[in-house]
Amino acid sequence: MKHRRVLRAAVTVAVTGALAAGMTMALTTSANAGTTLRASAAEKGRYFGAAVATGKLSTSAYVTVLNREFNSVVAENEMKWDATEPQQGQFRYTGGDRLVSHAQANGMSVRGHALLWYQQQPGWAQNMSGSTLRSAMINHVTQVATHYRGKIHSWDVVNEAFADGGSGGRRDSNLQRTGNDWIEAAFRAARAADPGAKLCYNDYNTDGINAKSTGIYNMVRDFKSRGVPIDCVGFQSHLGTSLASDYQANLQRFADLGVDVQITELDVMTGGNQANIYGAVTRACMNVSRCTGITVWGVRDCDSWRGSDNALLFDCNGNKKAAYTNVLNALNAGPGIPTDPPTDPPTDPPTDPPTDPPTDPPTVGCSASVSLNSWTGGFVASVKVTAGSAGTSGWNVGFTLPSGASVTNTWSATASGSTGTVRFANVNYNGRLGAGQVTEFGFQGTGSASGVTPTCTAS
Ligand code: XIL
Repeated sequence: MKHRRVLRAAVTVAVTGALAAGMTMALTTSANAGTTLRASAAEKGRYFGAAVATGKLSTSAYVTVLNREFNSVVAENEMKWDATEPQQGQFRYTGGDRLVSHAQANGMSVRGHALLWYQQQPGWAQNMSGSTLRSAMINHVTQVATHYRGKIHSWDVVNEAFADGGSGGRRDSNLQRTGNDWIEAAFRAARAADPGAKLCYNDYNTDGINAKSTGIYNMVRDFKSRGVPIDCVGFQSHLGTSLASDYQANLQRFADLGVDVQITELDVMTGGNQANIYGAVTRACMNVSRCTGITVWGVRDCDSWRGSDNALLFDCNGNKKAAYTNVLNALNAGPGIPTDPPTDPPTDPPTDPPTDPPTDPPTVGCSASVSLNSWTGGFVASVKVTAGSAGTSGWNVGFTLPSGASVTNTWSATASGSTGTVRFANVNYNGRLGAGQVTEFGFQGTGSASGVTPTCTAS
């Protein structure tokens, strides 16, 4: 919401400035609405972004186009795991920080990409498994999201975790083998580290209603019903020579679950349809009120990871292509996001009723229940805290762990102790609960926690 207000202010300045200047110049923050991607998107309450290789920020021809046309950036590689934690526990933020500074100096928001992905992991993580990897990956999420806290509009918390083909299931990876709940553990850790960032799941081959997008849809619906903190779904949209006819319908069905949707890595194979496909994707986003922005995966054709596909909006000399014109026209023709309060449509409950309503009836004080995901030598505990009829201003949940068990990581709560009797206190944003309200926290440990029962105390 803050983001939108900033953009709106920028547009107001832009229009006034441009009128005063006789509409002769298009400067970074004074581009005229209707004549650049950034101004046209901002007028409609949205962003228009590009993936940036930070090395190119010293190429003036590149920066000219970037600053004129885009009001959002994402690091093409510099915020990935191999770049940000090349050795375990040694974090390197040089490239990402450079991009954030550029964005801040030029009125751009920043998408964070990507906290966890099966590709571009540092070698040390590739060689890990089980609870060691689970701890390392949660620590990575926590450290990186904390470093960039307050500076990221949306984080791709998890990238490409679903399999291609007809299964609709998860992709096998070292991350997946730490337990099926690795994705929700990552989202919880990201929320705790940067409560202001929108947290996205991001994937490709999800450009219509198909087995893969439906698998993701079911995960998002489950997350929403259980209170796992997810805010958005990214559709990479690396496209070929045609566009699924239900592209927009697919975006809309996710939006109807109560999450924002974003086009996150758009590029389109060259050929007769390129310009039309770019226009159609932009129209689809504009027609979905929760589609909050579009990012293209590079600026000029020669910047693209897709080699000779000429997949972007500008040719190698920075000239606008036909695809650019179609995108700009679609932005200008599209409806805006309603800005009157409530800015976001009311938080629609998921269309299907939550699969498991809280089992504990409200009581005075609080109650807690735990569900365990265990593997040989480790476990993750997801704990649900339910306030009694008086509500809570804080809560504390205790467990007595069997001998040999030890807590190694906690999210959305603060642990005291790690073995024997361990207590978990609320963190600042989840202590205050209304009567019957539910919140969740989790912890991870080594050894076995089977049979543990929580006791909850409210204050
Ligand atoms: C690509 C980058 O563009 C390349 O420079 C790099 O060599 C490989 O990764 N899906 C994603 C992006 O989520 O991170 C990928 O980016 C493209 C596919």
